[in-house]
Formats: sequence, structure tokens, C-alpha cells
Amino acid sequence: MHDANPLDDPTADPFAIAAEAAARIAELTGVERHDVALTLGSGWGAAAELIGETTHTIAASEVPGFSKPALEGHVGTLRSVLLPSGKRALVIGARTHYYEGHGVRRVVHSVRSAAATGATTMILTNGAGGIKPHWKPGTPVLISDHINLTGDSPLEGATFIDLTDLYSARLRDLARTIDPSLDEGVYCQFRGPHYETPAEVQMAKVIGGHIVGMSTALEAIAARQAGMEVLGMSLITNLAAGIQLTPLSHEEVLEAGRNAEPVISRLLAQIVAAL
Ligand code: HPA
Repeated sequence: MHDANPLDDPTADPFAIAAEAAARIAELTGVERHDVALTLGSGWGAAAELIGETTHTIAASEVPGFSKPALEGHVGTLRSVLLPSGKRALVIGARTHYYEGHGVRRVVHSVRSAAATGATTMILTNGAGGIKPHWKPGTPVLISDHINLTGDSPLEGATFIDLTDLYSARLRDLARTIDPSLDEGVYCQFRGPHYETPAEVQMAKVIGGHIVGMSTALEAIAARQAGMEVLGMSLITNLAAGIQLTPLSHEEVLEAGRNAEPVISRLLAQIVAAL
């Protein structure tokens, strides 16, 4: 694993590096084109096994621009999965979080690379805190919209991109044909890696947020820039700080993910099968 990353050169073209990554993925998998890409966050990993047959697993470190995973429980692999429909999925188990401090280009590189492999659908999943008190840990929810509280953007220069219906209403409807009980909410991306204070959670609630987390919004923007249709799903691993009265812990988040994993992964596999 080399630490030097071509995306750290400010004069480099991130789209050219994404194209190189896609070429490398094609070379290592022998698969010319992928149709759909999935980023599997905390609790969603088992979906990779359920959506189809994994024909190739590659270390993300083999692919230009990908970073070493920073977190236990996040796998640094990319898989090419043959779906029962004959379509191809690229499963990204190597998310780079904004809080790692490597810059937004690295955060959205997997999404740009997926788009460069041909994927037109981007499924972004995460583990997150819930603001609606009736969302018990283990509840999967659809992301209906986001509030980007990072103050950053993957877009550079005067690149004006419409984000109305960023989280595709069509795909949310499709997900609800599989599980009509799926609720939805507005995802607030905080920088992290600290969890929010109760006051910040109240702010998120007042400005229209229902879910708090540390990923996804920046990736969704990059996916839209690349012309992809986006489905976002959060696993509520805990109630957000101050909504739940006990302190938050990463261990609690991982445990909720492990407990919910079989059910939500099956749900996600059914959604992918219906695409
Ligand atoms: N806040 C932010 N990120 C998270 C949380 C949370 O409460 N739970 C899991 N990821």
C-alpha cells in the first residue's frame, strides 16, 4: 500500500485519474463495463454476498487514486459482482471519509471511478444517527435529501449542478415496493469524526434534518455531476446525541450494524434485483 496518491497533486485532473482507475478495474476484473455501483457503509457489507456472484475481488490499493481504509470494519476491496439479471455491479468496500482530512477529491474518487466504469446508478449506504425518536437502532431509512454541513464541495470552479431530486424519487419508490414500511429523511453530513453535540443535533433538526452522519452527501453530489441516478440509504445505528440520553460509542455503532446486517443486506439485495 503506497501512501502517495495521485489525487494529492493539485494540478492533477481528478477525472483523468478516475478514468485510469476504471481502466485498471476493467483490466483486473476482465469486465469492461459496470452498470450499478454500491458503496457499502457500516452494517451493509453483507449485501455484497447477497446481490449476486462475486467474480473478482481486488484490493483498492491496486487501483489508482484509492486510499487505504482508515477504519476497522471498512474493507479496502472492490468487487465485481454478476447480478442474476446479467447486469454488473461494482461493490465499493473502500470509502474514504471526509474526516480523514485527505480532501474531497479523494472522498469522491470511488464514485467518479464507478461512473467511469459505466455505472449509471449509484447506491450510497451508511450507518448514521437518527433524530426521529421512533427510529430504533437497526432501522433502515431512505435518504430523501441532504444538508451538506461540511462547507465543502466536490465541484471545482464555476460548476453549477442542479441537486433537485438528487436522491431519485423513482428509486425511493422502487425501494418501497420491496418494503413499504421504509421511512425516509433528510441526511445531514457533518465533518466528524467527533459525534455531534446535542446542540448540533437540535440545530440539524430545526433546519430540517432527520439523520446525522459523516459521509454520503459529498459523494452524492459527485454522482450527480457524473450523471448517475442516486439511491441513498442509512442504517440508524443509534439515536443522535441528546435524543438518546446515553453517550455514543463507535462500538455501539458497530454492534448495531452487525445486528441489523442480515436483514438490511437482504433488503438491499432485493432492491438491487429490482433495478
Ligand atoms: N452521528 C454521526 N455519525 C454517525 C452516528 C451519529 O450519531 N452514528 C453512526 N454514525
